[in-house]
Amino acid sequence: MAEHRIILKDVDVPNIQDIGVYTSRGGYKAAEKALKTMTPDEVIKEVQDSGLAGRGGAWFSTGTKWSFMPKEPKVPSYLCVNADESEPGTFKDRQLIEQNPHQLVEGTIIAAYAIRARAAYIYVRGEMAEGMRGLDRAIAQAYAKGYIGKNLFGKGYDLDLYTHPGAGAYICGEETGLMQSLEGKRAEPRVKPPFPAQRGIFGCPTTVNNVQTLSYVPHIIANGAAWFKGIGNPKYPGTFIFCISGHVKNPGLFEMELGTATMRQLIYDYAGGLRDGHELKAVIPGGASTLPMTPDQIDIVMSPDQFLLPGRGPFKGMFGTGGIIVMDETACVVDMLLNLMQFFAHESCGQCTPCREGAPWIRDVVKRIEHGQGKLGDIDLLLNVADNVAGLLSPRYSTICLFGPAFSYPTQGTILAFREEFEEHIRQGRCPIQKDKGIG
Ligand SMILES: Cc1cc2nc3c(=O)[nH]c(=O)nc-3n(C[C@H](O)[C@H](O)[C@H](O)COP(=O)(O)O)c2cc1C
Repeated sequence: MAEHRIILKDVDVPNIQDIGVYTSRGGYKAAEKALKTMTPDEVIKEVQDSGLAGRGGAWFSTGTKWSFMPKEPKVPSYLCVNADESEPGTFKDRQLIEQNPHQLVEGTIIAAYAIRARAAYIYVRGEMAEGMRGLDRAIAQAYAKGYIGKNLFGKGYDLDLYTHPGAGAYICGEETGLMQSLEGKRAEPRVKPPFPAQRGIFGCPTTVNNVQTLSYVPHIIANGAAWFKGIGNPKYPGTFIFCISGHVKNPGLFEMELGTATMRQLIYDYAGGLRDGHELKAVIPGGASTLPMTPDQIDIVMSPDQFLLPGRGPFKGMFGTGGIIVMDETACVVDMLLNLMQFFAHESCGQCTPCREGAPWIRDVVKRIEHGQGKLGDIDLLLNVADNVAGLLSPRYSTICLFGPAFSYPTQGTILAFREEFEEHIRQGRCPIQKDKGIG
């Protein structure tokens, strides 16, 4: 199966960031079509019929989410574009923003029109300064052409579009944390319900969508729902960008039809396989909060419906955000978990006790195991603490948002898959792995 580029198709076109080049390739024609020839509800139906599901991780139907927004808003409605992308191992939204900002701006205009939003905000992770500058330039160009602002395409629809920088906090990617931050508050996630469509930013109806999700929208409007629905897996149609990093020869982004490639093909046929003389030890399939997989599990077809979460498939693991991190035998999985838990303990917003206390507790126990001071019983202690935050792939979790499961699942998953390596650390009183720090 070859790569199928839809949203990455134009990333190498010289100066595609400029509105002249973008429009010369058909850019903004989909926005014109939507606004001139379709009602907002027709746009929602088209996107619903296409089967597009949110690429931010939950894989919820995009059109259905839009349909929850009020049809005759009594207060302003808003669209928030989630460009926070802080899941370790994931770097696709950054590329989409930097390489093709007008595609996202056009998708945002169409989505805003469909949900009858008065304004849209693109919430950009603070570190993505280059992407933010490119977006600001694209937005200014679109305003100058009349694609944003007053009376778009003569339809009497007004839209303002702003970028809003975050400060690089992981929790700002969680949609209610994002909204808190956008309002100038601490990014402490809110209890749901009320859901954003009922009560979002400034107490008004709001839809939050991921960058990748909205980048598909112009293509769906231009080519029709049936075209998109016919691509890849009928249950989760379309393509998905896999970001492959770690111990592979050819790391990078690969846009694939969902349900057509196995993890093995992604690693060996697309990412060039492992470094010569090395063998596969572990793979994180979809960003830091997903359960690591072992080499015997990599023949799984990469599609959400193959994984218990989010598609409830047969494989007890998580599909996640496409951030595939490949590790060979020179990686220590205890050290890997320590690295991730240092991140999660730092990023907990601190609002919920199980998360605020549990994440640093897990970090500290993993740290002593890695540093040769692990005690008998530490492994069960880790499982117990993690289980109290969120039982592995169970519907039970003890925190307001899914940050708790985001660190407790991989903790439990890493121990279940690699328990022997944890035990070996404790038995030997040191890390037994010959690490290769050469490639960082
Ligand atoms: C801890 C946490 C971090 C998240 N980070 C991101 C993120 O960086 N980008 C993103 O698009 N969604 C992120 N999400 C998911 C969002 O809450 C939300 O589901 C998504 O933006 C909705 O967009 P979609 O429907 O287009 O997928 C995160 C969720 C959690 C629980």
